[in-house]
Amino acid sequence: MPNDKRLAAEAAVAEVTPGLLVGLGTGSTVAYFIDALAARVRDGLAIRAVATSLASAERARAAGIAIDDFADVAHVDLIVDGADELDPHFYAIKGAGGALLREKIVAAASARMVVIADSSKQVAAIGAAKLPVEVIPFARAFVAARLAALGAATIQRDSLTDNGNLILDARFATFPEPRDLARALDATPGVMGHGLFLDEVDAAYVAQGGVVTRLER
Ligand code: A5P
Repeated sequence: MPNDKRLAAEAAVAEVTPGLLVGLGTGSTVAYFIDALAARVRDGLAIRAVATSLASAERARAAGIAIDDFADVAHVDLIVDGADELDPHFYAIKGAGGALLREKIVAAASARMVVIADSSKQVAAIGAAKLPVEVIPFARAFVAARLAALGAATIQRDSLTDNGNLILDARFATFPEPRDLARALDATPGVMGHGLFLDEVDAAYVAQGGVVTRLER
């Protein structure tokens, strides 16, 4: 059986040209991307890179990709990242891996975002996946109550994010209109980030049964 995550990741390495500052996403699909990119770097491809999680930074460094401190970086050329759901509007839900806030920040700094995924992530409309919401610990109960008022049941993850915050995974009986939901979350004090990526994704490499399809927004 073909490894579709790996095939999508390896195809997306073609997006990386010499001299780019590349943002590395997080997750199992991105791990394949990091490995494939590292092979190109060992062959002489000159790039710079930043990472959206400590885990991705560690994997990249171990594979021979130097990682810049994003705190010193204002502009990224290209971020390549996974997704939990991706729909035909290029709306995505991200963050099952817990890196949603850094992923959102690096995506916002990036001229272009490419998603890599197997076809299990392709949906007609986002909303069946849990929506991770990163919350400053001080605001835990307050944000959980706001999410309940928006129609979500929440489960708090045991571990903290790389930023020292909590994640509340929200499941909606009926998923709200995504832009309305994003506006409501963005306007809630204590919410540091959420997994709705509505404007960021420019292109996607999606693999199914060993065949990779490139989709452009
Ligand atoms: C990490 O926080 C997530 O946004 C991942 O990009 C997403 O969960 C996809 O992960 P996999 O590539 O492991 O499916």
